Amino acid sequence: MASTVFSVVVVLLSSFPAIFSAKPSTFRPPLTSDLIATTKNTPPTTYFEVTKPIQLPNTKPCSVLVLRHDFGYTYGSPPVLAPYAPPTNCPSSNFDKIVLEWTATCKGRQFDRIFGVWLAGVELLRSCTAEPTATGIEWTVKKDITRYYSLLMKNQTLAVYLGNIVDDTYTGVYHVNVTIHFYPAENKNILNSDHLHNQWADLIIPISRNLPLNDGLWFEIKNSTDVKLKHFKIPLNAYRAVLEVYVSFHENDEFWPTNLPNDYVLHNNLTGYPGNGPFREVVVSLDGGVVGAVWPFTVVYTGGVNPLLWRPITGIGSFDLPTYDIEITPFLGTILDGKSHDFGFSVTNALNVWYIDANLHLWLDEKSKKTNGRFLTQNISPLHVSLVSNYTGLNGTFVTKVTRSIKSSGWVQSSHGKIVTKSTQDFNYSNIMVMAQNGDAQIVNQMIEFNDSVYAKNPSSVLSKESLKLFSFYIYSDTEDKGNGSYSEVANITLGFNEKKVDSLGSKSLSSVLENLQNGQGSMLVKGNLVVRGLGSTQQMYKYGDDDLCYFRDVSSSNYTILYDKQGHTCSKSKKSRLDLVIGTQWPLHARDRHAI
Ligand SMILES: *[C@@H]1O[C@H](CO)[C@@H](O)[C@H](O)[C@H]1NC(C)=O
Ligand SMILES: *[C@@H]1O[C@H](CO)[C@@H](O)[C@H](O)[C@H]1NC(C)=O
Ligand SMILES: *[C@@H]1O[C@H](CO)[C@@H](O)[C@H](O)[C@H]1NC(C)=O
Ligand SMILES: *[C@@H]1O[C@H](CO)[C@@H](O)[C@H](O)[C@H]1NC(C)=O
Ligand SMILES: *[C@@H]1O[C@H](CO)[C@@H](O)[C@H](O)[C@H]1NC(C)=O
Ligand SMILES: *[C@@H]1O[C@H](CO)[C@@H](O)[C@H](O)[C@H]1NC(C)=O
Ligand SMILES: *[C@@H]1O[C@H](CO)[C@@H](O)[C@H](O)[C@H]1NC(C)=O
Ligand SMILES: *[C@@H]1O[C@H](CO)[C@@H](O)[C@H](O)[C@H]1NC(C)=O
Ligand SMILES: *[C@@H]1O[C@H](CO)[C@@H](O)[C@H](O)[C@H]1NC(C)=O
Ligand SMILES: *[C@@H]1O[C@H](CO)[C@@H](O)[C@H](O)[C@H]1NC(C)=O
Ligand SMILES: *[C@@H]1O[C@H](CO)[C@@H](O)[C@H](O)[C@H]1NC(C)=O
Repeated sequence: MASTVFSVVVVLLSSFPAIFSAKPSTFRPPLTSDLIATTKNTPPTTYFEVTKPIQLPNTKPCSVLVLRHDFGYTYGSPPVLAPYAPPTNCPSSNFDKIVLEWTATCKGRQFDRIFGVWLAGVELLRSCTAEPTATGIEWTVKKDITRYYSLLMKNQTLAVYLGNIVDDTYTGVYHVNVTIHFYPAENKNILNSDHLHNQWADLIIPISRNLPLNDGLWFEIKNSTDVKLKHFKIPLNAYRAVLEVYVSFHENDEFWPTNLPNDYVLHNNLTGYPGNGPFREVVVSLDGGVVGAVWPFTVVYTGGVNPLLWRPITGIGSFDLPTYDIEITPFLGTILDGKSHDFGFSVTNALNVWYIDANLHLWLDEKSKKTNGRFLTQNISPLHVSLVSNYTGLNGTFVTKVTRSIKSSGWVQSSHGKIVTKSTQDFNYSNIMVMAQNGDAQIVNQMIEFNDSVYAKNPSSVLSKESLKLFSFYIYSDTEDKGNGSYSEVANITLGFNEKKVDSLGSKSLSSVLENLQNGQGSMLVKGNLVVRGLGSTQQMYKYGDDDLCYFRDVSSSNYTILYDKQGHTCSKSKKSRLDLVIGTQWPLHARDRHAI
């Protein structure tokens, strides 16, 4: 075997000292040396992730700079801490929107680094840095953090962990500002989905590691049997609970959809190559019993596959990793006893390493000191996995299909009445992997369907939340060993993140549709640890529509240059319904009136 597309992954996200494989690494080519023409006055390049604008009220924000820090050699050091206090001199202390803004600049040569921002141990942002160039780069991430309202109204400690390594080769230092913008309420009573669901939690409990630590506050899941537990206690008068899970995957699992079946690894004597097949499931348990799962979106970080693909349009979710909500209300009855309980995290088939933590959002009954409840039923289908393969030697096709369903119900009695909550998660996964040219070429076509629904019924109304997600991942890569310590690689990639949401309360209903698709084509020549030649081109089509906002962006880049960039809000009703139709073909939803259920 000359060279393969599934070499040992070289990652500096958490390994130190830096370990470089002698073998070429297709999906994690190390650093890119500068491939753009530079002059003394070349301005920094602005990198960005395509996403919809945050809908802001028409008020002047009160802004608090909560952290200014230069992340130099921070690997293995404690997170950077800063005192946080809500704004005091603001004309109003009633806010419609709260936005976290991360801005950073960097110059030189550096890997992509995963980082997290926590407030009182509650994670607010999981992200990845952009890879700099010699002339410098800058980027901004804005995240709507209004759902952390209760937490943001009190003095707290902010923690940021960004493990960076700086030496003669990796010279990039990240200069960072973290600002929080508070937008006073406009006194307009706009109905949005947040209002439908009783706004924000009254209390948010961190399900993360406690400080002090020389690391991020996330738990590290290192293999398929590793389970990480966190003890917690909740107030006696909670009536609703939602666990928001943060997930990122690294090192041997950074490109888990491309990981090889163990059989194939053993048969072909590929020991050390990332294995365990291409299926992963994050399992969340409460006191040992499964409460939900996450089949995560396949985020590709800014140095992944071919770093030239992500300059300046970064991969979907790489600057603001998606989080996943699991409804815990059906289980509240079992933890409303004032005692300590534990959440557990594990990852089916995991290889080193997954970073996972969570935030427990709790709604408290202000009219009573004690609520009570009972867990009623649970129906968990076992993971149904089918694997079909036909490899001979290094060539072959592997088809992996998995389904799973988790349904839970329970009631909680509070001053809001006796509310019966049913939550359902339905998953469907398929991965078709083709290994060709004696292992030099790999084609992976993966699709995840991830449906969540919650129905809560009290004597006077029914509340429901539905989210249908479709995550697609395609890669074609072809590697050629040049026999002199260098290799070339051609890689095409497609990432798709689609979500349709319908929230309703009684006869009112709100829906949104997101369709976000990225295509990339890259080629490069890698020598030692550097990409010495190459080209990356990326096209992205983003379409979003809900009852208030319609937004699209159609953007394309090649060789560091934006080729076209069209965006707009102009979206007539008919366009909106066309968007619905497009998604509708992928998700044959039950026909339903947008405003009535
Ligand atoms: C990319 O652009 C640079 C100029 O910045 C140019 O020198 C180089 O030839 C281009 N590369 C390709 C593959 O087109
Ligand atoms: C919160 O922090 C601010 C700024 O440090 C301080 O002035 C204020 O007294 C603190 N408030 C409380 C309740 O500790
Ligand atoms: C951070 O804020 C300071 C003060 O406003 C400003 O001088 C600096 O350029 C900012 N840095 C970044 C990375 O935005
Ligand atoms: C899995 O990881 C845990 C935690 O690092 C470790 O204690 C355990 O030995 C590992 N198990 C295997 C089978 O490698
Ligand atoms: C497997 O590969 C290793 C290292 O490449 C080699 O030393 C060993 O002889 C190989 N074993 C077989 C059975 O081919
Ligand atoms: C495996 O099956 C696929 C069709 O499913 C076929 O195209 C391919 O040639 C087969 N590969 C081998 C090595 O037999
Ligand atoms: C998700 O919901 C859609 C629309 O109801 C349905 O067509 C699809 O089969 C569901 N997927 C799973 C895995 O249940
Ligand atoms: C899962 O997807 C397959 C197609 O890949 C389809 O045949 C099957 O019906 C789906 N199952 C569910 C539960 O949606
Ligand atoms: C694997 O497929 C390639 C073409 O993709 C062919 O040249 C090679 O002979 C095949 N190897 C084996 C062992 O069948
Ligand atoms: C190595 O091979 C590549 C591809 O043939 C070639 O471009 C490069 O110049 C060679 N490098 C050396 C040092 O021979
Ligand atoms: C990869 O992308 C290039 C450029 O668009 C295209 O010419 C080629 O056919 C693609 N290859 C595959 C296998 O998708």
